[in-house]
Amino acid sequence: NRQKADNIVWHEGKVSKDDRRKLNKHTSAVLWFTGLSGSGKSTLAVEVERELNRRNIRTYILDGDNIRHGLNKGLGFSQEDRSENIRRIGEVSKLFVDAGIMTLTAFISPYQKERNLVRGLLEKQEFIEIYVKCSLEEAEKRDPKGLYKKARNGEIKNFTGLDAPYEPPDHPDLIVETDQLSIKDSVKQVIEFLERKGYIS
Ligand code: PPS
Repeated sequence: NRQKADNIVWHEGKVSKDDRRKLNKHTSAVLWFTGLSGSGKSTLAVEVERELNRRNIRTYILDGDNIRHGLNKGLGFSQEDRSENIRRIGEVSKLFVDAGIMTLTAFISPYQKERNLVRGLLEKQEFIEIYVKCSLEEAEKRDPKGLYKKARNGEIKNFTGLDAPYEPPDHPDLIVETDQLSIKDSVKQVIEFLERKGYIS
């Protein structure tokens, strides 16, 4: 295996990330939404994407449930599998950023270590860690997929927030408190952040 890797040579293209960004007339980065199940990550990503699209920005969403049906089929919810899940998503995000796309990811991504790993794959301004903050109580009350109920009944093990950990971000770039704000105001907070930091105009 090692020998195989040794013989792989990186092939440089003739069109750079900057060339792609110039063509798109906007920069590219990852909006990394992290938070409990039911905190509103996907809802927020979907609404922010719609607003970016409306502003002629090229976007793509990588979402937990979808990726786990395809690219990461076979990965479960042990600490090891979640780490591998996030590592792969990190690499895919990097490719999307290189392609010049504003990328939105919606994964619980419960471990700070893994989120830092993804941050480390990208350039400094390219990783925007957004903490979708919502109390466990409220997330469990929403329970959109009935998973908290199943976890409480013992039908699901290692459920985040119950018998598996969630580590809130140490230094998120933005915190959106979805148990305090309407969806509309949550979206506004993200869009205003992107404007303030010069990602979009
Ligand atoms: S992780 O921790 O980042 O690898 O998880 P992620 O890929 O985002 O997948 C989370 C979605 O999987 C469903 N699900 C579970 N979540 C947490 N814990 C356990 N044990 C579990 N089993 C299944 C759940 O629908 C999560 O979706 P969201 O959208 O977060 O509610």
